[in-house]
Amino acid sequence: MGNLFLPKEVRLGQNRVDELVEIAEALHMKKAFVLYSKSAVGQRLTTLQAQFTQAVFYGMPKGEPTTTMLQVALQHLMSEQCDGVIAIGGGSVMDLAKALAVLAKMPELTLSEIATTKKVERLPLVAVPTTAGTGSEATMVTVIIDEEKCMKLNPGHPALIPDVVILDAILTANVPKSVTAFTGLDALTHAIEAFVSTNATPLSDFYALEAVRLLTDHIEIVYEEPHNLAAREGMLLGSFYAGIAFSNASTNLAHATGRALGTKFHLPHGQSVALMHPFVVEYSMESCRERYDEIAEQIGLEQGEQLILYLQGLNDQFGVWQSAKNVVDQLTVETIKDMTKSALNGNGILTNRQVPTAQQIEQLFIQLRKRLQHKGDFAWYN
Ligand SMILES: NC(=O)c1ccc[n+]([C@@H]2O[C@H](COP(=O)([O-])OP(=O)(O)OC[C@H]3O[C@@H](n4cnc5c(N)ncnc54)[C@H](O)[C@@H]3O)[C@@H](O)[C@H]2O)c1
Ligand SMILES: [Zn+2]
Repeated sequence: MGNLFLPKEVRLGQNRVDELVEIAEALHMKKAFVLYSKSAVGQRLTTLQAQFTQAVFYGMPKGEPTTTMLQVALQHLMSEQCDGVIAIGGGSVMDLAKALAVLAKMPELTLSEIATTKKVERLPLVAVPTTAGTGSEATMVTVIIDEEKCMKLNPGHPALIPDVVILDAILTANVPKSVTAFTGLDALTHAIEAFVSTNATPLSDFYALEAVRLLTDHIEIVYEEPHNLAAREGMLLGSFYAGIAFSNASTNLAHATGRALGTKFHLPHGQSVALMHPFVVEYSMESCRERYDEIAEQIGLEQGEQLILYLQGLNDQFGVWQSAKNVVDQLTVETIKDMTKSALNGNGILTNRQVPTAQQIEQLFIQLRKRLQHKGDFAWYN
């Protein structure tokens, strides 16, 4: 048994971003709201603006999307009377675009109500990812930081899945090394967590395993050879498949704890998830050893247990542990308690095969602190 929700149309290949005008026309957009990442679009902006004479271009402010950014962008979209949304950027841009497309059509809705509303309408929506990635182009989720509550809201609804997706690896070729690593590890975490989720189905498993294969085949290559477009395309397709997998299954404890960690210390999403994932796999191993064995087989490892060292090794190789050095001193008893509470309030707890207690979540953060202090031995003995 299972259900699978997918975008209606996907265009894969280099330079396919040039087809945006034609796609916008096919979706009957007369005046598109093009939300873009300045660093991703760069010099292409002039060409795009020349192609889209009627469109309104809106550069995404820095950082992951917040409720304030959403309100400001929404006002702009409404005052310009745009009738479609095009996102060109990483997960931050795509998530803001997804929320905008809904709220422009249903301004009375709050973000949290999206998940519980039966019929959600939105403007036509096109997503062009420039990181590989969150997979947001494939998912029924938008993640927006609620500044007042100091937590990430992540309402889900099938209406949030874009109509058309363009997977053009050229757009990812200039992603900085650290973003390549963080976003690639995020995608791998999506694939693995979807496969071990209690909500996994044969439909989501298919995408999860193929994503694991594609991502692990290419992640080290794109880190070392940023302009290797074949490898960039492998990552882009892998992150898209991982998005399909987790959108139709779920993410789990690495995301629940990673979201809490990232929100507390303002770390990028992929970095915070990658920091937690090895500990979560170790903690969850007993509860679904056979599933981890299948994942290990995709990577060419002998058994699931080796996944822990594999993920730890990627974090070493990509400098992920090192990148979080400055949070060690802030991982106090108090902040760990706060993050545990916030993790328990978010998604990904009940779908973990081994449902954690508050104390066990605290232990995951303590494991992280020990690892960052180079004292961790990666054993789950406490
Ligand atoms: N909706 C979903 O299903 C889903 C899934 C996972 C994560 N997320 C959310 O997505 C957000 C993170 O997205 P992300 O990891 O893609 O990072 P991001 O979109 O925040 O981008 C990271 C940085 O890279 C830059 N960048 C993006 N593309 C670039 C390019 N091609 N060249 C140069 N620089 C580029 C951006 O400007 C930014 O500074 C978080 O808010 C996270 O919670 C959403
Ligand atoms: Zn993620």
